[in-house]
Amino acid sequence: MISLNQIKAPVASDLTTFDQKFKEYLKSKVLLLDTITRYIYKKKGKQIRPLFVFLSAGASGEVRESTYVAASLIEMLHTATLVHDDVVDDSNMRRGIFSINALWKNKIAVLVGDFLLSRGMLLALEKDEFELLKIVSRAVKEMSEGELLQIEKARRLDIKEDIYFEIIRKKTASLIASCCAAGAASAGADPQTTEQMRLFGEYTGIAFQIKDDLFDYESGNITGKPSGIDIRDQKMTLPLIFLLNNCTSTEKRWIINTVKHHNTDAERVKKMVNMVKETGGLEYAREQMLGFREKAISIISSFPQSGYRDSLEKLVIFTTERTT
Ligand code: IPE
Ligand code: IPE
Ligand code: MG
Ligand code: MG
Repeated sequence: MISLNQIKAPVASDLTTFDQKFKEYLKSKVLLLDTITRYIYKKKGKQIRPLFVFLSAGASGEVRESTYVAASLIEMLHTATLVHDDVVDDSNMRRGIFSINALWKNKIAVLVGDFLLSRGMLLALEKDEFELLKIVSRAVKEMSEGELLQIEKARRLDIKEDIYFEIIRKKTASLIASCCAAGAASAGADPQTTEQMRLFGEYTGIAFQIKDDLFDYESGNITGKPSGIDIRDQKMTLPLIFLLNNCTSTEKRWIINTVKHHNTDAERVKKMVNMVKETGGLEYAREQMLGFREKAISIISSFPQSGYRDSLEKLVIFTTERTT
């Protein structure tokens, strides 16, 4: 497996500079807020989105001052959505440590998320980066729509494969798409190149979320997030949708009943997870994921050969093979 450090090599110094700037932007004079943002900063995630921004910039031009703004804005936005997501999903762990809502309660987590979101937007405004703001605002809107669509469908439990793909395209892929588009735009790429990069990011983002949904079926996964909570949250992801399309009507009634009324019954959930595995739901989801990976790789292959392009290709593969 390719290491993230290897992939980062062409933009290693850019990432170091980014990290310093990011830390600065997070500061606040409100003590409580500053304590929480320091807590967030201490346990950084993979920072895969800034990596997409810098590599996309390099692959379609050169890293510029705007590229740093793009990376900072997007990572702040991403952090905001994770803080909010843990409130929405009532999840107590994130990145292997307690989530903000677990330590400071929902009220504070919602407000900290809002701060991060607005701080990011303001940064782009302060730097007169309107093009960037345009690209990223679209993702912000789509992410909220995706989350709400997910809740709407979870309520009715009538989710079909096409809706699943629409949900993950909006809630996850739109932001990764905006990383690549913003990276290209910040490097002065023309609109066609920027659009190709956006599409590359979208396919990669879909593969990324399918992988995330697969983690939820792995006991003792090491993502630093609890597993098995999607069913508890009545979230129907691709492996489960596959099972529903490939079982008898009696089984289907039992499954729906389990998700609807027994979603916190550990025994029943475990039985359902086993059914998903036996029916081949995980293999099916993996195949779909690899399909999107291929589409992404075919787009990036049309870019001029460079170390940045190679790293982007490796990053797509990392996304689908990662263990965290
Ligand atoms: C998690 O994203 C949220 C999803 C879109 C599935 P990451 O896995 O990139 O989170 P961090 O930033 O590395 O923790
Ligand atoms: C992904 O949703 C987070 C966002 C896109 C906001 P999930 O709820 O599936 O992600 P994790 O698994 O908690 O990171
Ligand atoms: Mg969620
Ligand atoms: Mg969640």
